[in-house]
Amino acid sequence: MLNDKKVLYSGMQATGKLTLGNYLGALKNWVTLNEEYECFFSVVDMHSITVRQNPTELRKKARDLLILYIAAGLDPKKNCIYYQSHVSGHAELMWILNCYTYMGELNRMTQFKDKSRKNEDNINAGLFTYPVLMAADILLFQSDVVPVGADQMQHLELTRDIAERFNKLYGDVFTVPEAYIGKTGARIMSLQNPEKKMSKSDENPNGSIYLLDDTDTIIRKFKRAVTDSYSEILYRDEQPGIKNLIDIYSAVTNKTPGEIEKEFDGKGYGEFKLAVGEAVASTLKPLQDRVAELSKDKAYIDSIIKENAEKANYFATKTLRKVQRKVGFPDRIR
Ligand code: TYM
Repeated sequence: MLNDKKVLYSGMQATGKLTLGNYLGALKNWVTLNEEYECFFSVVDMHSITVRQNPTELRKKARDLLILYIAAGLDPKKNCIYYQSHVSGHAELMWILNCYTYMGELNRMTQFKDKSRKNEDNINAGLFTYPVLMAADILLFQSDVVPVGADQMQHLELTRDIAERFNKLYGDVFTVPEAYIGKTGARIMSLQNPEKKMSKSDENPNGSIYLLDDTDTIIRKFKRAVTDSYSEILYRDEQPGIKNLIDIYSAVTNKTPGEIEKEFDGKGYGEFKLAVGEAVASTLKPLQDRVAELSKDKAYIDSIIKENAEKANYFATKTLRKVQRKVGFPDRIR
């Protein structure tokens, strides 16, 4: 609880190009929830280096992502939008939490298994302990709620287990966070393979809608989306491609799957795909315009980065000092 408001925390990696999955599964919900909570949104650049990055590109992508948060409608005066690497408390708390997390727990993480398979030549210790850094992000701010897509649920469960374990040993140190998974858009699938989640790291660019894709590209990708031969627009597991398109359309129009089935009853897949493409393009266009506009204002963005890093550091240090004391580190002499 901060200023009588519950605390909300979330973050995204500044890696690859952000997709419609990131927007519908996370960012869109952040915008709807932000008034209700005291919010912290980080660009998790420390997580990004678990996979090799080009330093110049990482710096640029991190800045673009921070701008995107603001462009999506998060007021940086009310929401603390900052770079994870600017708050050293993340790494410090992570070290402590590493000592309260078991190898067996980390071994079970499906994202670790997936990423190890994809990066066989670089299975580094950071990739393995990545979920502990995520737990540190969340616990450092005494977060009550963490809005994420369904793929992050396992990391959230681990965060809760670590917090509860720590609290059992040392009293009520951490708030035990709850995940917030949106009603729509929690798992957006690839347009080329509806069995696989839409992902920044997908090799086939036609499987993902990138947030900065132009209208023609968006419509072309939807037209090519893999469907089936049922020729019926129904929301059911036997039609994963169509189900995914209904989920996307539902998330951008706020219509329910039932309403969408009715709207397109008797209509062809071509017409439906075009409608989804147009709806997505008209959702993303204002966002893209705002990103372009904000990117020009270097002084404003720099001031936000500075102010919010200070704010985040202030709150992070409060928790960190408490934790350091609990585990027995000597007091600082002032
Ligand atoms: P990341 O960067 O992979 O994804 C950012 C957010 O987007 C959601 N998401 C999706 N939602 C629906 N459908 C999809 N296809 C899809 N793809 C991605 C993710 O669930 C996530 O909410 N480890 C995290 C970042 C992180 C974090 C945190 C999140 C680090 N520390 C603390 C919350 C709190 C990650 O790699 O997300």
